[in-house]
Amino acid sequence: MRIIILDNSQQVAQRGAEIFCQQITNKPDSVIGLATGSTPISMYQALIAKYQQGEVSFSKVTSFNLDEYLGLDGKHPQSYRYFMNDKLFNHININSNQTHVPNGSSETPLTAGQEYEDQIANCGGIDIQLLGIGRNGHIGFNEPTSSLASRTRIKTLTKETIDDNARFFTDDEFQPTLSITMGIGTINQTRAVVLLATGDSKAQAIKDMVEGPISAMSPASALQMHPNAIIIIDEAAASLLSQTDLYKHIEQQQLTLQKT
Ligand code: GLP
Repeated sequence: MRIIILDNSQQVAQRGAEIFCQQITNKPDSVIGLATGSTPISMYQALIAKYQQGEVSFSKVTSFNLDEYLGLDGKHPQSYRYFMNDKLFNHININSNQTHVPNGSSETPLTAGQEYEDQIANCGGIDIQLLGIGRNGHIGFNEPTSSLASRTRIKTLTKETIDDNARFFTDDEFQPTLSITMGIGTINQTRAVVLLATGDSKAQAIKDMVEGPISAMSPASALQMHPNAIIIIDEAAASLLSQTDLYKHIEQQQLTLQKT
């Protein structure tokens, strides 16, 4: 894992946006994996700004989102499809036919996961996958005890995740308790991952992911097996790590090597 510790959440968003722009500049028809939650919003704003400044074009890009609530169609304001349109797709020149979000209103949810896997494979696999992390260490909606080899499928949400996400739903609004999510095996098959986390509420999940054992109780710890995982965090999210000086030293060396 490459651990990048930055001063604040704005720097985290900016660095994430730079990595995605670099990827798209190097390969304009990149297949990018995207994520929802509050953490990526600033990165999406930074990407929109770069697009408006002519630094990047999404015209040939294909995207796959990690997950979706089961029981919400894409027009529902709390659906992740709606979120992506609202926070990113409507503001850049991506072809909407080339944006994919798991189908939360599929009439055949048990086979929808395999269909999504097939779509990813038909596009040649994901070049770079954006991730956030839940307080309980989930990635996508792969909750603790998820199989580390899992593929896109239906997952039952934990009470902690339902409670964490309740802030987005009004009291009388239906809040799903099921999701359709890429599996941990799906995520680990991508060619690169970029995980963003900010704030001290994520500190324990980050410690477990980076320094804990690989365990289904910390789904993100499976990223220790990923050959190209970049973890970008602020000081607060890094606050429980025991080796921060080492990670900063390694990153300095890495930056020096990149300049030579
Ligand atoms: C949801 C999403 C995850 C996201 C997590 C954290 O559960 N399914 O992909 O990483 O929320 O969200 P936030 O960034 O709001 O803390």
